[in-house]
Amino acid sequence: MIEEAKTYIESRTELRPSIGLVLGSGLGGFAAELSDSVELPYGDIPGWPSSTAVGHAGRLILGRLGDREIAVMAGRAHLYEGYAPAQVTFGVRVLRRLGVRSMVFTNAAGGINRELDQGGLVLISDHINLQGSNPLVGPNDDSCGPRFPDMSEAYSREFRQIAAKVAAELCIPMTEGVYAAMLGPSYETPAEIRYLRAIGADVVGMSTAAEVIVASHMGMKVLGISCVTNMAAGILPQKINHEEVLETGRQVQETLVRLLKAVLPQLAEAAQ
Ligand code: HPA
Repeated sequence: MIEEAKTYIESRTELRPSIGLVLGSGLGGFAAELSDSVELPYGDIPGWPSSTAVGHAGRLILGRLGDREIAVMAGRAHLYEGYAPAQVTFGVRVLRRLGVRSMVFTNAAGGINRELDQGGLVLISDHINLQGSNPLVGPNDDSCGPRFPDMSEAYSREFRQIAAKVAAELCIPMTEGVYAAMLGPSYETPAEIRYLRAIGADVVGMSTAAEVIVASHMGMKVLGISCVTNMAAGILPQKINHEEVLETGRQVQETLVRLLKAVLPQLAEAAQ
């Protein structure tokens, strides 16, 4: 199926991107920045899972950012939708087969660290996978990567340094933090958030970890950015609702787009 998806995408465009970007909940706006773009609804690509989550557009866009060719996944499949780990990571595998060597993952997340503000951005330094699954379970494809891949720098230090520098230049506040990946779809309980804080998590979300494991296994360099759409359960005396998550995502979008526009060319440069 991966090969079929690759062949289909290659038949629709001459663009051959070396960098990929995944846009999370309510963060789909970046796609409008691309020129000469081709939009492929996920439903048209063989084997590609269509995203059912509200706020996820569900299309692959290939286009140019300046003179760089880039692949943007606007919307992703989640484990909580009932998709298998192989489906959640399908897009990353296809992009790698298309020649993508660097990936940027964005997501909406709850802020666990009390120093964080709603609407802020967090540079993911590492993750804790609590989703109860690993996308590499099963026979290992040795042509992709090793059976027991190292994960000690899953989020490239070099990419983080570049992103932090660019953010500082643009006066966009962005601290580093650890992302805890939960299965969802229920938000966490306050006790779970206390537990996540105790084990070293700064933000919590329901995506990204599986995709980063696969990208890392395939030798791709990864940058991760969380958008703190809400403070995690029990921190503020109010309930969490998905509407608020999407609304904050929309508000942060402009800042995120500004950051990504400046960061992506530099990542592409560094990865050459
Ligand atoms: N928890 C889990 N996932 C999330 C949250 C949250 O508080 N906010 C946005 N995605």
